[in-house]
Amino acid sequence: MSRRFLVALGGAVLALSLAACSGEGAGSGDGGGGDKPADLTIGVSMPTQTSERWIADGNSVKEKLEAKGYKVDLQYAGDDIPTQSQQVDQMITQGADVLIIAAIDGTALSGQLQAAADAKIPVIAYDRLIRDSKNVDFYVSFDNYKVGVAQATALLVGLGLQNKDGSKGSAAGPFNIELFAGSLDDNNAHFFFDGAMDTLKPFIDNKSLRVKSGQTAIEQVAILRWQQETAQKRMEDLLTSSYNDGSKVQGVLSPYDGLSRGIITALQNAGYGASANKMPVVTGQDAEIASVKLINDGVQSSTIFKDTRLLAEQAVIAGEAFLQDKDPQANDTKTYDNGVKVVPSYLLPVQTVYKDDIKPVLIDSGYWTADEVKSGQAKG
Ligand code: GAL
Repeated sequence: MSRRFLVALGGAVLALSLAACSGEGAGSGDGGGGDKPADLTIGVSMPTQTSERWIADGNSVKEKLEAKGYKVDLQYAGDDIPTQSQQVDQMITQGADVLIIAAIDGTALSGQLQAAADAKIPVIAYDRLIRDSKNVDFYVSFDNYKVGVAQATALLVGLGLQNKDGSKGSAAGPFNIELFAGSLDDNNAHFFFDGAMDTLKPFIDNKSLRVKSGQTAIEQVAILRWQQETAQKRMEDLLTSSYNDGSKVQGVLSPYDGLSRGIITALQNAGYGASANKMPVVTGQDAEIASVKLINDGVQSSTIFKDTRLLAEQAVIAGEAFLQDKDPQANDTKTYDNGVKVVPSYLLPVQTVYKDDIKPVLIDSGYWTADEVKSGQAKG
């Protein structure tokens, strides 16, 4: 018997039993295995529209689900935790059949997730793990520890301490560097920082790298809500407090392009990047178009490309599996402990992008056009 037939049969049985006992229809939070896509709604909750990546993520997930005939309720929460809680509550009461959530604060949605579980709505955590809840059914993301390793490696390569093939570089240092991390309430920020610090530690220990401010704990270097302006302000403060003796900062570990742009603005305002006053090696993440332009122009050193089209695809595959009463296929069942349970995950690979990689990795794959890279603006 074909699986499709079984699903159809399951659906018929389910429809009969629903009709017999409750009269409950599609959109009840019970995907039902046999409902037509047009009768099923997927709630997609995204954190913010201030960063272009989340707009692209939201659009990709929506387009891919709609192409399969599903209804999609896509909401952005303006980086406001109560707004996101409210939006998810509403998706539940309006009878979503699956939820796909990229949380603002990974610890703030336990109540919503309990309500989802009570209504039998499967929950997929999108890129950011939702913590402290047993009701996270699946996680789609990238290998976040490796993102941190790749960022630190790009910093070492940019400074010449290491070559791209991993061999020892020709520079010896010591180099002055400063460290930044993401928002402490985002699980990813910790994975990025751990991966980066494990990679940088030997170089800090052998003194080829020196964090001149002395700020090396994640609590000291984290930027709440990944805000560009906060990163700019912290970089300005660092320049005033630790580099007012004529010394120069030569490298900055930045975990996200938005922060990198704030850091670069602070550095430029202080005269870096003009004549002999070299711009430090600044890393990034997400291949945001404004930052890809900065890399192309030789201002930012690198970014980490995470293909959000593939992430959206995985979220759709996982969502569809739940709608068919199946468990999505995980490729990692060990790494992502959310404090209550290890959440089965599908992790995608990441790629470092230096200037030379822009064409082969970003333009040739259709992620950005050559015109967009030149202008630094997405055409949409
Ligand atoms: C993280 C995500 C990064 C970056 C950051 C700021 O959760 O993994 O890729 O987008 O949020 O938005």
